[in-house]
Amino acid sequence: MPEVVLSAQNLVKHYPIKKGVLRRTVGHVKAVDGVTFDLHKGETLGIVGESGCGKSTLGRLLMRLEEPTSGSVAFEGQDFSGASARDTRRLRRNIQIVFQDPYTSLNPRMTVGDIVGEPFEIHSDVVPKGGRRQRVQELLDLVGLNPEHINRYPHQFSGGQRQRIGIARGIALNPKVLICDEPVSALDVSVQAQVINLMEKLQDELGLAYVFIAHDLSVVRHISDRVGVMYLGRLAEIGEEDEIYSRPTHPYTQALLSAVPVPDPTLRGKREQIVLEGDVPSPANPPSGCRFHTRCWKAQDVCTTDEPDLQPRPDGAGEHQSACHFAEPRAIVETKDVSNLQHDARFATTKVEELSEAGDTPVPDDRSTPARAEAMDPTAEQPQDTTRVVEDPTDRPR
Ligand SMILES: Nc1ncnc2c1ncn2[C@@H]1O[C@H](COP(=O)(O)OP(=O)(O)OP(=O)(O)O)[C@@H](O)[C@H]1O
Ligand code: SF4
Ligand SMILES: [Mg+2]
Repeated sequence: MPEVVLSAQNLVKHYPIKKGVLRRTVGHVKAVDGVTFDLHKGETLGIVGESGCGKSTLGRLLMRLEEPTSGSVAFEGQDFSGASARDTRRLRRNIQIVFQDPYTSLNPRMTVGDIVGEPFEIHSDVVPKGGRRQRVQELLDLVGLNPEHINRYPHQFSGGQRQRIGIARGIALNPKVLICDEPVSALDVSVQAQVINLMEKLQDELGLAYVFIAHDLSVVRHISDRVGVMYLGRLAEIGEEDEIYSRPTHPYTQALLSAVPVPDPTLRGKREQIVLEGDVPSPANPPSGCRFHTRCWKAQDVCTTDEPDLQPRPDGAGEHQSACHFAEPRAIVETKDVSNLQHDARFATTKVEELSEAGDTPVPDDRSTPARAEAMDPTAEQPQDTTRVVEDPTDRPR
Protein backbone atom coordinates (compact mmCIF):
# COMPACT_ATOMS: atom_id res chain seq x y z
CA MET A 1 0.00 0.00 0.00
CA PRO A 2 1.36 3.50 -0.85
CA GLU A 3 2.53 5.77 1.94
CA VAL A 4 0.04 7.66 4.11
CA VAL A 5 -0.25 11.36 3.17
CA LEU A 6 -3.02 12.46 5.49
CA SER A 7 -3.99 10.89 8.77
CA ALA A 8 -6.98 11.80 10.95
CA GLN A 9 -6.87 10.53 14.52
CA ASN A 10 -10.03 10.59 16.61
CA LEU A 11 -11.15 13.93 15.14
CA VAL A 12 -13.87 15.68 17.11
CA LYS A 13 -15.69 18.94 16.39
CA HIS A 14 -18.39 20.08 18.81
CA TYR A 15 -20.09 23.41 18.13
CA PRO A 16 -21.48 25.15 21.22
CA ILE A 17 -25.21 25.92 21.29
CA LYS A 18 -25.69 29.29 22.95
CA LYS A 19 -28.94 30.64 24.35
CA GLY A 20 -30.32 33.65 26.21
CA VAL A 21 -29.05 37.21 26.54
CA LEU A 22 -25.92 36.02 28.28
CA ARG A 23 -25.24 33.59 25.42
CA ARG A 24 -24.73 30.73 27.82
CA THR A 25 -23.62 27.44 26.33
CA VAL A 26 -26.52 25.03 26.80
CA GLY A 27 -25.20 22.11 24.77
CA HIS A 28 -23.09 21.09 21.80
CA VAL A 29 -23.74 20.01 18.22
CA LYS A 30 -21.53 16.96 17.84
CA ALA A 31 -20.86 17.49 14.14
CA VAL A 32 -17.82 15.20 14.02
CA ASP A 33 -17.42 12.86 16.95
CA GLY A 34 -14.34 10.66 16.72
CA VAL A 35 -13.26 10.00 13.13
CA THR A 36 -10.06 8.10 12.39
CA PHE A 37 -8.68 7.14 8.96
CA ASP A 38 -5.59 7.28 6.76
CA LEU A 39 -5.46 8.64 3.22
CA HIS A 40 -2.78 7.14 0.99
CA LYS A 41 -0.77 8.80 -1.74
CA GLY A 42 -2.70 9.02 -5.00
CA GLU A 43 -5.87 7.34 -3.71
CA THR A 44 -9.45 8.57 -3.57
CA LEU A 45 -11.35 8.13 -0.35
CA GLY A 46 -15.06 8.72 -0.80
CA ILE A 47 -17.08 9.98 2.18
CA VAL A 48 -20.84 9.42 2.03
CA GLY A 49 -23.72 9.90 4.40
CA GLU A 50 -27.00 11.75 4.83
CA SER A 51 -27.25 15.52 5.06
CA GLY A 52 -25.99 16.83 8.40
CA CYS A 53 -23.86 13.79 9.27
CA GLY A 54 -20.71 15.93 9.40
CA LYS A 55 -19.08 15.45 5.99
CA SER A 56 -18.35 19.12 5.31
CA THR A 57 -17.20 19.70 8.88
CA LEU A 58 -14.79 16.78 8.47
CA GLY A 59 -13.50 18.34 5.21
CA ARG A 60 -12.89 21.68 6.93
CA LEU A 61 -11.09 19.98 9.81
CA LEU A 62 -8.82 18.07 7.45
CA MET A 63 -7.84 21.32 5.76
CA ARG A 64 -7.52 23.01 9.09
CA LEU A 65 -10.04 25.67 8.12
CA GLU A 66 -11.36 24.94 11.60
CA GLU A 67 -9.66 23.85 14.79
CA PRO A 68 -10.83 20.47 16.04
CA THR A 69 -12.28 20.25 19.55
CA SER A 70 -9.92 17.32 20.00
CA GLY A 71 -8.02 14.80 17.91
CA SER A 72 -5.38 15.47 15.30
CA VAL A 73 -4.63 15.72 11.60
CA ALA A 74 -1.16 14.86 10.35
CA PHE A 75 0.23 15.49 6.88
CA GLU A 76 3.03 13.10 5.91
CA GLY A 77 3.44 12.25 9.57
CA GLN A 78 3.64 15.86 10.79
CA ASP A 79 0.90 16.84 13.19
CA PHE A 80 -0.73 20.24 12.56
CA SER A 81 -1.24 20.96 16.23
CA GLY A 82 2.43 21.12 17.14
CA ALA A 83 3.54 22.89 13.96
CA SER A 84 5.13 26.36 13.81
CA ALA A 85 3.44 29.10 11.76
CA ARG A 86 5.86 28.43 8.89
CA ASP A 87 5.21 24.70 8.96
CA THR A 88 1.45 25.28 9.17
CA ARG A 89 1.63 27.34 5.96
CA ARG A 90 3.56 24.55 4.28
CA LEU A 91 1.09 21.95 5.49
CA ARG A 92 -1.87 24.06 4.35
CA ARG A 93 -0.35 24.48 0.92
CA ASN A 94 -0.34 20.73 0.45
CA ILE A 95 -4.02 20.32 1.28
CA GLN A 96 -6.47 22.28 -0.85
CA ILE A 97 -10.24 22.27 -1.17
CA VAL A 98 -12.81 22.43 -3.97
CA PHE A 99 -16.32 23.46 -2.93
CA GLN A 100 -19.71 22.34 -4.09
CA ASP A 101 -21.30 25.35 -5.62
CA PRO A 102 -19.46 26.81 -8.61
CA TYR A 103 -22.01 29.65 -8.66
CA THR A 104 -21.22 31.07 -5.26
CA SER A 105 -17.70 29.87 -4.51
CA LEU A 106 -16.11 32.15 -7.13
CA ASN A 107 -15.94 35.91 -6.52
CA PRO A 108 -18.03 37.47 -9.33
CA ARG A 109 -15.91 40.65 -9.30
CA MET A 110 -12.62 38.87 -9.91
CA THR A 111 -11.36 37.71 -13.29
CA VAL A 112 -10.59 34.05 -13.76
CA GLY A 113 -6.90 34.92 -13.82
CA ASP A 114 -7.16 36.61 -10.41
CA ILE A 115 -9.22 33.75 -8.95
CA VAL A 116 -6.89 30.99 -10.07
CA GLY A 117 -3.77 33.04 -9.24
CA GLU A 118 -5.02 34.17 -5.81
CA PRO A 119 -3.22 31.38 -3.90
CA PHE A 120 0.09 32.73 -5.27
CA GLU A 121 -0.51 35.98 -3.34
CA ILE A 122 -0.41 34.05 -0.06
CA HIS A 123 2.21 31.50 -1.09
CA SER A 124 4.37 33.89 -3.07
CA ASP A 125 7.33 31.50 -3.21
CA VAL A 126 5.52 28.95 -5.40
CA VAL A 127 5.66 31.02 -8.59
CA PRO A 128 7.70 34.24 -8.98
CA LYS A 129 5.54 37.31 -9.63
CA GLY A 130 6.59 37.65 -13.28
CA GLY A 131 5.63 34.06 -14.09
CA ARG A 132 2.16 34.00 -12.53
CA ARG A 133 0.11 34.89 -15.61
CA GLN A 134 1.78 32.14 -17.60
CA ARG A 135 1.27 29.62 -14.76
CA VAL A 136 -2.41 30.54 -14.53
CA GLN A 137 -2.77 30.01 -18.28
CA GLU A 138 -1.07 26.62 -17.96
CA LEU A 139 -3.52 25.71 -15.19
CA LEU A 140 -6.51 26.78 -17.30
CA ASP A 141 -5.19 24.65 -20.13
CA LEU A 142 -4.69 21.71 -17.76
CA VAL A 143 -8.33 21.77 -16.68
CA GLY A 144 -9.59 22.06 -20.25
CA LEU A 145 -10.34 25.80 -20.37
CA ASN A 146 -9.15 28.23 -23.00
CA PRO A 147 -6.07 30.03 -21.59
CA GLU A 148 -7.10 33.11 -23.57
CA HIS A 149 -10.15 33.47 -21.34
CA ILE A 150 -7.96 34.54 -18.44
CA ASN A 151 -9.56 38.01 -18.29
CA ARG A 152 -13.16 36.81 -18.29
CA TYR A 153 -15.45 36.88 -15.28
CA PRO A 154 -17.16 33.82 -13.68
CA HIS A 155 -20.62 34.72 -15.06
CA GLN A 156 -19.24 34.26 -18.57
CA PHE A 157 -18.74 30.54 -17.94
CA SER A 158 -21.14 27.60 -17.65
CA GLY A 159 -21.52 25.64 -14.39
CA GLY A 160 -19.13 22.89 -15.48
CA GLN A 161 -16.56 25.43 -16.63
CA ARG A 162 -16.82 27.28 -13.32
CA GLN A 163 -16.13 24.07 -11.46
CA ARG A 164 -13.06 23.63 -13.67
CA ILE A 165 -11.97 27.11 -12.54
CA GLY A 166 -12.44 25.97 -8.91
CA ILE A 167 -10.34 22.88 -9.60
CA ALA A 168 -7.62 24.97 -11.31
CA ARG A 169 -7.45 27.12 -8.19
CA GLY A 170 -7.39 24.00 -6.02
CA ILE A 171 -4.35 22.57 -7.80
CA ALA A 172 -2.52 25.90 -8.28
CA LEU A 173 -0.14 25.27 -5.38
CA ASN A 174 0.69 21.69 -6.41
CA PRO A 175 -1.02 20.19 -3.37
CA LYS A 176 -0.77 16.51 -2.53
CA VAL A 177 -4.29 16.28 -1.17
CA LEU A 178 -7.47 17.78 -2.60
CA ILE A 179 -10.57 17.80 -0.40
CA CYS A 180 -13.56 17.85 -2.72
CA ASP A 181 -16.80 18.78 -0.94
CA GLU A 182 -19.65 17.75 -3.22
CA PRO A 183 -17.70 19.02 -6.25
CA VAL A 184 -20.23 17.88 -8.84
CA SER A 185 -23.51 17.90 -6.91
CA ALA A 186 -24.65 21.23 -8.35
CA LEU A 187 -23.95 20.18 -11.94
CA ASP A 188 -26.09 18.51 -14.57
CA VAL A 189 -25.53 14.80 -14.97
CA SER A 190 -23.50 14.80 -18.19
CA VAL A 191 -21.38 17.72 -16.95
CA GLN A 192 -20.75 15.78 -13.72
CA ALA A 193 -19.19 13.02 -15.80
CA GLN A 194 -16.90 15.47 -17.59
CA VAL A 195 -15.69 17.03 -14.34
CA ILE A 196 -15.16 13.58 -12.77
CA ASN A 197 -13.16 12.51 -15.81
CA LEU A 198 -11.04 15.65 -15.47
CA MET A 199 -10.43 14.90 -11.79
CA GLU A 200 -9.33 11.36 -12.62
CA LYS A 201 -6.99 12.66 -15.31
CA LEU A 202 -5.45 15.18 -12.93
CA GLN A 203 -5.03 12.50 -10.29
CA ASP A 204 -3.09 10.33 -12.73
CA GLU A 205 -0.94 13.19 -13.96
CA LEU A 206 -0.26 14.90 -10.62
CA GLY A 207 -0.40 11.97 -8.18
CA LEU A 208 -3.07 13.74 -6.10
CA ALA A 209 -4.96 12.06 -3.27
CA TYR A 210 -8.65 13.00 -3.01
CA VAL A 211 -11.08 13.04 -0.13
CA PHE A 212 -14.26 13.03 -2.20
CA ILE A 213 -17.31 14.04 -0.17
CA ALA A 214 -20.68 13.39 -1.78
CA HIS A 215 -24.11 12.01 -1.14
CA ASP A 216 -24.49 10.45 -4.60
CA LEU A 217 -23.36 6.86 -4.07
CA SER A 218 -23.05 6.15 -7.81
CA VAL A 219 -20.60 9.00 -8.32
CA VAL A 220 -18.64 7.99 -5.23
CA ARG A 221 -18.44 4.38 -6.36
CA HIS A 222 -17.10 5.42 -9.73
CA ILE A 223 -14.28 7.60 -8.47
CA SER A 224 -13.31 6.05 -5.11
CA ASP A 225 -10.70 3.45 -4.20
CA ARG A 226 -12.04 3.30 -0.67
CA VAL A 227 -15.28 4.55 0.83
CA GLY A 228 -16.19 5.70 4.33
CA VAL A 229 -19.85 5.84 5.39
CA MET A 230 -20.69 8.47 8.02
CA TYR A 231 -23.63 8.50 10.40
CA LEU A 232 -24.15 11.25 12.97
CA GLY A 233 -20.54 12.38 13.12
CA ARG A 234 -18.91 8.94 13.12
CA LEU A 235 -17.74 6.41 10.57
CA ALA A 236 -20.16 3.50 10.44
CA GLU A 237 -18.10 1.52 7.93
CA ILE A 238 -14.99 2.00 5.82
CA GLY A 239 -13.33 -0.23 3.26
CA GLU A 240 -12.38 -0.81 -0.34
CA GLU A 241 -15.00 0.36 -2.81
CA ASP A 242 -15.93 -3.23 -3.65
CA GLU A 243 -16.21 -4.24 0.01
CA ILE A 244 -18.62 -1.41 0.77
CA TYR A 245 -20.77 -1.77 -2.33
CA SER A 246 -20.80 -5.56 -2.73
CA ARG A 247 -20.41 -6.79 0.84
CA PRO A 248 -21.62 -4.04 3.21
CA THR A 249 -21.86 -5.31 6.77
CA HIS A 250 -23.33 -2.27 8.55
CA PRO A 251 -27.14 -2.01 8.44
CA TYR A 252 -26.93 1.72 7.73
CA THR A 253 -24.74 1.17 4.65
CA GLN A 254 -27.10 -1.56 3.50
CA ALA A 255 -30.07 0.79 3.83
CA LEU A 256 -28.26 3.59 1.97
CA LEU A 257 -27.32 1.24 -0.86
CA SER A 258 -30.83 -0.10 -1.14
CA ALA A 259 -31.95 3.42 -2.00
CA VAL A 260 -29.39 4.03 -4.76
CA PRO A 261 -31.33 4.92 -7.90
CA VAL A 262 -30.99 2.32 -10.63
CA PRO A 263 -29.61 3.71 -13.90
CA ASP A 264 -32.20 2.04 -16.10
CA PRO A 265 -35.73 3.28 -15.31
CA THR A 266 -37.22 -0.03 -16.45
CA LEU A 267 -35.48 -1.76 -13.56
CA ARG A 268 -36.73 0.58 -10.89
CA GLY A 269 -38.89 -1.11 -8.28
CA LYS A 270 -37.41 -4.51 -9.04
CA ARG A 271 -35.29 -4.81 -5.96
CA GLU A 272 -35.72 -4.92 -2.26
CA GLN A 273 -35.54 -1.59 -0.50
CA ILE A 274 -34.79 -1.14 3.16
CA VAL A 275 -36.94 1.71 4.38
CA LEU A 276 -35.50 3.29 7.49
CA GLU A 277 -38.05 4.46 9.99
CA GLY A 278 -37.78 7.71 11.90
CA ASP A 279 -35.73 10.81 11.28
CA VAL A 280 -32.00 11.21 11.74
CA PRO A 281 -31.57 12.05 15.45
CA SER A 282 -30.17 15.46 16.35
CA PRO A 283 -26.37 15.62 16.46
CA ALA A 284 -26.84 17.71 19.61
CA ASN A 285 -28.24 14.66 21.35
CA PRO A 286 -27.08 11.48 19.63
CA PRO A 287 -28.56 8.18 20.87
CA SER A 288 -26.64 6.19 23.49
CA GLY A 289 -24.69 3.06 22.55
CA CYS A 290 -24.78 2.58 18.79
CA ARG A 291 -26.12 5.87 17.48
CA PHE A 292 -27.97 4.05 14.70
CA HIS A 293 -30.04 1.93 17.12
CA THR A 294 -33.14 4.15 16.94
CA ARG A 295 -33.53 3.31 13.24
CA CYS A 296 -31.91 -0.11 13.00
CA TRP A 297 -34.09 -3.16 12.35
CA LYS A 298 -31.46 -5.43 13.91
CA ALA A 299 -31.01 -3.51 17.16
CA GLN A 300 -30.80 -5.53 20.39
CA ASP A 301 -30.45 -4.44 24.00
CA VAL A 302 -26.67 -4.28 23.85
CA CYS A 303 -26.93 -1.73 21.00
CA THR A 304 -28.59 0.82 23.30
CA THR A 305 -25.79 0.68 25.87
CA ASP A 306 -22.51 -0.33 24.18
CA GLU A 307 -21.03 1.73 21.39
CA PRO A 308 -19.59 -0.65 18.77
CA ASP A 309 -15.96 -0.06 17.76
CA LEU A 310 -15.00 0.53 14.17
CA GLN A 311 -12.93 -2.59 13.68
CA PRO A 312 -12.30 -5.30 11.07
CA ARG A 313 -15.30 -7.62 10.87
CA PRO A 314 -15.89 -10.57 8.50
CA ASP A 315 -17.69 -9.63 5.28
CA GLY A 316 -18.07 -13.02 3.66
CA ALA A 317 -14.93 -12.80 1.54
CA GLY A 318 -12.46 -11.28 3.98
CA GLU A 319 -12.95 -8.51 6.47
CA HIS A 320 -13.23 -4.75 6.58
CA GLN A 321 -13.94 -2.15 9.23
CA SER A 322 -17.49 -1.80 10.46
CA ALA A 323 -18.99 -0.36 13.64
CA CYS A 324 -21.79 -2.85 14.31
CA HIS A 325 -22.10 -5.52 17.02
CA PHE A 326 -23.98 -7.73 14.57
CA ALA A 327 -22.11 -6.93 11.37
CA GLU A 328 -22.82 -9.42 8.60
CA PRO A 329 -22.64 -9.12 4.83
CA ARG A 330 -25.82 -8.55 2.92
CA ALA A 331 -25.68 -7.94 -0.81
CA ILE A 332 -28.33 -5.40 -1.63
CA VAL A 333 -28.08 -4.90 -5.34
CA GLU A 334 -25.34 -5.62 -7.81
CA THR A 335 -24.55 -2.92 -10.31
CA LYS A 336 -21.98 -2.76 -13.04
CA ASP A 337 -20.36 0.29 -14.53
CA VAL A 338 -22.70 0.88 -17.45
CA SER A 339 -20.80 3.75 -18.99
CA ASN A 340 -19.89 1.74 -22.06
CA LEU A 341 -23.52 0.77 -22.60
CA GLN A 342 -25.04 4.21 -22.42
CA HIS A 343 -22.95 7.32 -22.38
CA ASP A 344 -22.88 8.95 -18.96
CA ALA A 345 -25.33 6.47 -17.51
CA ARG A 346 -22.88 5.58 -14.76
CA PHE A 347 -23.86 8.82 -13.06
CA ALA A 348 -27.54 8.59 -13.86
CA THR A 349 -29.34 9.53 -10.70
CA THR A 350 -32.92 9.89 -11.73
CA LYS A 351 -34.49 9.99 -15.12
CA VAL A 352 -33.44 9.37 -18.69
CA GLU A 353 -35.08 12.69 -19.61
CA GLU A 354 -32.53 14.49 -17.47
CA LEU A 355 -29.68 12.83 -19.27
CA SER A 356 -30.84 14.22 -22.58
CA GLU A 357 -31.44 17.70 -21.15
CA ALA A 358 -28.18 17.79 -19.33
CA GLY A 359 -26.29 20.33 -21.38
CA ASP A 360 -22.74 20.23 -22.59
CA THR A 361 -22.73 16.68 -23.99
CA PRO A 362 -25.70 15.61 -26.07
CA VAL A 363 -26.94 12.20 -25.04
CA PRO A 364 -28.76 10.17 -27.68
CA ASP A 365 -32.34 9.60 -26.64
CA ASP A 366 -33.23 6.12 -27.74
CA ARG A 367 -36.62 6.01 -26.05
CA SER A 368 -38.25 6.29 -29.44
CA THR A 369 -36.70 3.06 -30.72
CA PRO A 370 -38.86 -0.06 -30.67
CA ALA A 371 -36.48 -1.74 -28.24
CA ARG A 372 -36.78 1.15 -25.84
CA ALA A 373 -40.55 1.37 -26.19
CA GLU A 374 -40.77 -2.31 -25.38
CA ALA A 375 -38.52 -1.88 -22.40
CA MET A 376 -40.65 0.98 -21.10
CA ASP A 377 -43.81 -1.10 -21.38
CA PRO A 378 -44.60 -2.30 -17.84
CA THR A 379 -46.35 -5.41 -19.19
CA ALA A 380 -43.37 -6.43 -21.32
CA GLU A 381 -40.89 -9.00 -20.05
CA GLN A 382 -38.20 -7.21 -18.06
CA PRO A 383 -34.78 -7.43 -19.72
CA GLN A 384 -31.83 -8.83 -17.82
CA ASP A 385 -29.62 -5.83 -17.47
CA THR A 386 -27.01 -4.45 -15.12
CA THR A 387 -28.93 -4.71 -11.87
CA ARG A 388 -29.99 -7.80 -10.08
CA VAL A 389 -32.35 -8.37 -7.19
CA VAL A 390 -30.81 -10.01 -4.18
CA GLU A 391 -33.52 -11.30 -1.90
CA ASP A 392 -32.82 -12.13 1.71
CA PRO A 393 -36.11 -13.24 3.28
CA THR A 394 -34.65 -13.89 6.72
CA ASP A 395 -33.58 -10.30 7.22
CA ARG A 396 -36.58 -8.08 6.65
CA PRO A 397 -36.87 -4.43 7.59
CA ARG A 398 -39.03 -3.67 10.59
N1 LIG B 1 -20.41 26.48 12.23
C1 LIG B 1 -21.35 25.69 12.76
N2 LIG B 1 -21.95 25.98 13.92
C2 LIG B 1 -22.88 25.18 14.47
N3 LIG B 1 -23.28 24.00 13.93
C3 LIG B 1 -22.72 23.66 12.76
C4 LIG B 1 -21.73 24.45 12.12
N4 LIG B 1 -21.35 23.83 10.97
C5 LIG B 1 -22.08 22.69 10.91
N5 LIG B 1 -22.89 22.58 11.98
C6 LIG B 1 -23.80 21.47 12.27
O1 LIG B 1 -23.03 20.28 12.25
C7 LIG B 1 -23.75 19.21 11.66
C8 LIG B 1 -22.96 18.66 10.49
O2 LIG B 1 -22.95 19.64 9.45
P1 LIG B 1 -22.18 19.42 8.08
O3 LIG B 1 -22.34 20.65 7.27
O4 LIG B 1 -20.79 18.99 8.36
O5 LIG B 1 -22.99 18.20 7.44
P2 LIG B 1 -22.91 17.58 5.98
O6 LIG B 1 -22.81 16.10 6.16
O7 LIG B 1 -21.86 18.25 5.19
O8 LIG B 1 -24.36 17.91 5.40
P3 LIG B 1 -24.76 18.20 3.88
O9 LIG B 1 -24.82 16.85 3.19
O10 LIG B 1 -26.14 18.81 4.03
O11 LIG B 1 -23.78 19.13 3.28
C9 LIG B 1 -25.11 19.79 11.28
O12 LIG B 1 -26.03 19.49 12.28
C10 LIG B 1 -24.86 21.28 11.22
O13 LIG B 1 -26.03 21.99 11.51
S1 SF4 C 1 -24.76 -2.17 16.60
FE1 SF4 C 1 -26.90 -2.78 16.77
S2 SF4 C 1 -28.08 -0.90 16.37
FE2 SF4 C 1 -26.00 -0.56 15.68
S3 SF4 C 1 -26.04 -1.03 13.53
FE3 SF4 C 1 -25.39 -2.90 14.59
S4 SF4 C 1 -27.27 -4.04 14.99
FE4 SF4 C 1 -27.88 -1.95 14.43
MG1 LIG D 1 -21.90 19.40 3.41
